[in-house]
Amino acid sequence: MPWPGPARGGREDAMSTRILVLATGGTIAGQADNSASARYVAGELGIDQLLASVGDFSRHATIAAEQIANIGSEDMSGPIWGKLLQRIGDAFENDTADAVIVTHGTDTIEETAFLLDLALPAGRPVVLVAAMRPANALGADGPRNLANAIRLAADPGSPRRGVMVVLGDFAYAARDVSKATTVNVEAFRGFPHGPIAQVQASALRFLTAGDEAAWRGRYAFPHHGQLPPVAILHAHANMDDPSVHAMLSCGLAGVVLAGLGHGNAPKQVYQALASASAAGLMVVRASQVGEGAAPHGMEIDDKALGFIAGSVLSPRKCRILLQMLLANGIRAHAECQRVFDQF
Ligand code: SIN
Repeated sequence: MPWPGPARGGREDAMSTRILVLATGGTIAGQADNSASARYVAGELGIDQLLASVGDFSRHATIAAEQIANIGSEDMSGPIWGKLLQRIGDAFENDTADAVIVTHGTDTIEETAFLLDLALPAGRPVVLVAAMRPANALGADGPRNLANAIRLAADPGSPRRGVMVVLGDFAYAARDVSKATTVNVEAFRGFPHGPIAQVQASALRFLTAGDEAAWRGRYAFPHHGQLPPVAILHAHANMDDPSVHAMLSCGLAGVVLAGLGHGNAPKQVYQALASASAAGLMVVRASQVGEGAAPHGMEIDDKALGFIAGSVLSPRKCRILLQMLLANGIRAHAECQRVFDQF
């Protein structure tokens, strides 16, 4: 897709960076019963209230903000992804923003970030940001994280790095990031690569040189906002056949096996998946281990069974990639495997 490059004349002066903030809700916009309470509701505050809590960011950027949704990110959906992509595309094509920040819940931020990375060219920075504590909690992390995201989005070293995710004082690439704990403000990890930057409002240090990943901007998101139906089958000991067969016979376009270890499953599950694959269902085999990969052909013959090995991508990211491939009419086994292998 033709897209304006990152460096407009004079935009290397961070003071003038125009940032569009698109808000979707999450704990960063959450409200607790009181400042010491564990009970809270995500997606309560508007983006203007969040920005007001950050203090003076005018040294780095001028900010425009829009509320796209105000939800807990468990309710993130195709139509909201479609709205985000449309709005980011308009802002960059019409040159009304140099960078975009998306505020989001931590629970599915890794899925939204990965989807945006597949759909958006890696020109101008797109930074997703979240928080682990609601906005009115003692020690709320949202204002600091948002200030860090502004710092990152405005930095001249950020263009061409693809979609990035900020939590705590670290930034991660969309391909790598996942939520690893529910109890800590530094809740994200990167796999196969760790953080790409250490970021504070006052200082930013990139830890990697950046890359020109071939997948960025390669896959169009469907205009109607609905991706093909793909489910995740979670492997475990003593799996029962009826629930596996029920999943395989409900009209899905694809299944991702969230397998054990290197992406393993009991023999009868492999058999059911191989039969479903022979009948036309797309089957991707992934590892459910947090820092896990499913290399093809390692413990089983993926090609013979009709499976695509998910490589280093988590089951949730494998699902999004398979949906985007199917939405773009790509389903030949060898081509799909090549796409998964590049991650
Ligand atoms: C959510 O994902 O919306 C709730 C959890 C969070 O943001 O930390």
